[in-house]
Parts: sequence; structure tokens; C-alpha cells
Amino acid sequence: MVQSIDPAAAAETTLRAAAANAGLFFGVAASPNRLYPVVGQEFNQLTPENDMKPDRIATSSGGLQNTSGADTLVNHAQSNNMLVRGHTLVWHSQAGALQGASQATLNTFIGNAINRWGSRIAYWDVVNEALEDNNTGRRRNQWPHTMNRDANGDGDFFDAGDTDVIRDSFIRAKQVVQAGGLTTKLCINDYDVEGLTVQGGTQNRKANALYDIVRNYRQYIDCVGFQAHFNDNPNSIITSDLQANIQRFADLGVEVHLSEVDIDDDLSNNDIGAGQAENYRKVVRACLNVAKCTGITVWGISDSESWRSSERGLLFTGGNGSYQKKAAYHAVLDELNKGRNSTPPTTPPVTPSVPPTTPPVDPTTPPPTTPPVTSAPPTTPPNPTTGCSATVSLNSWTGGFVATVRVTAGTSPITGWSVQLTLPSGATVTNTWNANRSGSSGTVQFSNVNYNGSVNAGQYTEFGFQGSGTATGLTPVCTAS
Ligand code: XIL
Repeated sequence: MVQSIDPAAAAETTLRAAAANAGLFFGVAASPNRLYPVVGQEFNQLTPENDMKPDRIATSSGGLQNTSGADTLVNHAQSNNMLVRGHTLVWHSQAGALQGASQATLNTFIGNAINRWGSRIAYWDVVNEALEDNNTGRRRNQWPHTMNRDANGDGDFFDAGDTDVIRDSFIRAKQVVQAGGLTTKLCINDYDVEGLTVQGGTQNRKANALYDIVRNYRQYIDCVGFQAHFNDNPNSIITSDLQANIQRFADLGVEVHLSEVDIDDDLSNNDIGAGQAENYRKVVRACLNVAKCTGITVWGISDSESWRSSERGLLFTGGNGSYQKKAAYHAVLDELNKGRNSTPPTTPPVTPSVPPTTPPVDPTTPPPTTPPVTSAPPTTPPNPTTGCSATVSLNSWTGGFVATVRVTAGTSPITGWSVQLTLPSGATVTNTWNANRSGSSGTVQFSNVNYNGSVNAGQYTEFGFQGSGTATGLTPVCTAS
């Protein structure tokens, strides 16, 4: 008897292939001396573990130096068809010659670093670890946050008169990206922000503070990295509301990444499961169940070569290019092969756990204190008279892509819009956000949802979609009403 084989049911045998099928990347932190074959075989995204940090590449005036390690990594990523996450521009730690620098110098460095690699960097961590430890929900009180000023004393740095190194660094980064017509997306990254709660069910104030930052500065922030260094610290455990927290950030319209994952193999008192492999499964599943969770990166290849080797938190044992897969590896591969939404969420998505401290910045309104980011994309000016125009920026990996579409109003305000796109054959849309959609392949039509139809003259709004296959040469056609 001849058995028929359903090719769609065949499980992938590498992390990157399984992830690509599910519409996300699976990446690794890497260094130039550890670019073994496994890097390109198993992973389709690369984060320089140390080679793009300011202490490596920044001069005291914000110039660049010693970029050869970073270049090696970017080249390796490119020749292995991997996305790159630049890590990191503004950080209190490993700041090197930038330690104590002014915002002007940070801005110089931001410009130099972004322009050095341009769109070869898919994601840049613009600000890393801005928030204090111990679940206080406050900013750090060491440089660069000593530059922050709460002008009206209301307890936050979001007001027009305030000084905020986070806001100003993102504004600068966005200006550089727009001026260069780059596709690079700009991320904020932190740890102990993964769950809605921490040990004992206490609300995660650090996560809430990050949420407020993203909500207030949404117009400059494209993506959020949850580092996901899980261990026994009461604020670093895996909680059952991880997925719900990912979801609430995703609902702001940003991509979410688990950006530096390692999981202590002896989580003892606080974890939500016994074994490391099971814990990896839960974490990967939480991401898979949220459409805008578009990537997972593990913080190294093998336990022995990890920054926290004693926790044995990674997917391989061994070293120096000779690696053995752990149970955790097989669990991750299996979970990725199940794809998105294979199991219902364990907790329903929640609304923000704290009320906003300030109203969200209207994405169509220019920022208060600094020159507004130009509203028109650099490559395609909006229709000069009426109507709307649309541009697409694409992040692609083998087998999948995320497209962000910007709809810009012409010289008159619009109250509704629709965008038509024709996908190449083989490309299929799997998820859409901030738009209604009809069709999923060939010619696909998107239209505004109730909260983003009205766009002021010359301003823009954005929506996005994710798909499988390859999407190149997309030419959006915008129609306004
Ligand atoms: C770590 C590296 O893994 C180590 O090699 C280095 O000595 C210190 O930094 N959060 C981050 C990463 O954003 O840059 C850190 O990487 C781990 C914690």
C-alpha cells in the first residue's frame, strides 16, 4: 500500500526553519570567535553579544572605533541569511568612553552607529535597561538617567517640559532612520519585565513602567525586548501571565521579542514548572500565541560558554564548536513546530494594570519639546494635493516577513483609508494589526480600523501584517475617504 505523506505535517529539524514556518525568527547572541556552523544552521537572527556595545565601538565624542568585530558578525549574519539586532546604543553599563556623556554626544553616537550599518541592522536596541532593580518601577538613578528632569514634579518624565534621555535618544534614532530611508526598527530592551506579576502575585511595577514608556513614546518605538533571563530571583521568575504581558505590549502596536533568553536549570522555589525543557516550552509558547511576538533570541549557544554558565540556561552543552542538543533544545524545536495558537492562552489578555499617568501621545501629533519626526517617509513623498500615500517597510527572514505600512495623508485631513497591495505568488498574510483585511494572498485589501481612520494633513498612521513566503517589491496603493 502506498502511504501518502502530507508535506505540511513534516516537522522541521532546525530551530530557524521551524520558527520561520511559524512566522518568527529564532536567534542567538554571538561573538566573532564563536561563529561555528551551528550559528547559521540553527538560527536566523544574530545579536552581537558584546561587539556593538559602546565600550567596544564608541569614542568619547560619539565617533566609532574598533568596529571590526561587529563587521564580522554583520557579514556572517548576512551571508547566512540572518537578521541582525544591534545591541546597544544607550546603556548605563559597558558605556566605555561614553560614560557621563551629554545627550548631544549620545545623539552623535546614535547617528554614527545607525548609519554605519544602515538597513543591514533589522532591529537596534536604542535604550537598554533604563529601569531600576527590585521592582520599584523607577528609572535608574545612575547616568544617563541623571540627565532626566521632572520639570513639574509630577513623578514622571513624560511632560513637555521634562528632560528624558529615553525620549530624546529615540527621537534622534528615528530621525536618523527616516533621513536615511532605513528599514531598521528601534527597540527598547529590559529584564524583569516579562510577567504581569512577580513572585507572590505582586504586580510587576518594572513591566508597568516600561509599558508607560512605550505607550507615551509609541511614535518612535517599534519594538520591545524582554530579555528573559529567567532565574530564582523573585523578580526574574517565569509567571503564568507572561503571555498576557506580551499581549498588552503587542496591543500597543509594537513588535515584542524575547531578546536574551536563558533559563536557569534549577529554578526551584518559584517557577511554574519543574524541568528546564518544560520551562522553555512555556516561554516559547507564550511568544507563539501572540502574533506580534516576532522573535526569540537565546543568549548564547552552549551552557559552558554562557555569561551565566553556572545556571546552565541554554539549549546546548559542549563547547568550541562541538555542541550537543539538550532536552531544552528538543522542547523548543517541538513547540516551534506546533506553530502559533496551538493551545489556548492560559490566561486571558488583560488591560493595563495601572492607569496611564499621562495621556498617550497621539501618534498624529508632533512631540512637544523637540522637532517632530518628519511625517512623510523619505523615499515616497505624499500626494501633494489630496488623498493619501502609502509606503511599506519590510523585515524578512527565510520563509517569512513582517511588513509595516505607513499611510500618510496629503494636504487635506482624511477620515478613512484603504490600501491595496499585491503579494508575490507563494506569499500569504497570516496576521494583521491596526487594519481590517480582506484576502490573504494575491491582491490584498487593508482598511482603517475605527481608531486610525482620521489622519491630519501631512501626518501618518501605521499598520502591519505578518506573512509566510517572500514579499518583495510591494507597491501599495492608498485611497482616502
Ligand atoms: C553580557 C554578556 O553576555 C557578557 O559577555 C558581558 O560580559 C556582560 O554582558 N543584559 C544585556 C546584555 O543587555 O548585553 C548582557 O550581556 C547580559 C544582560
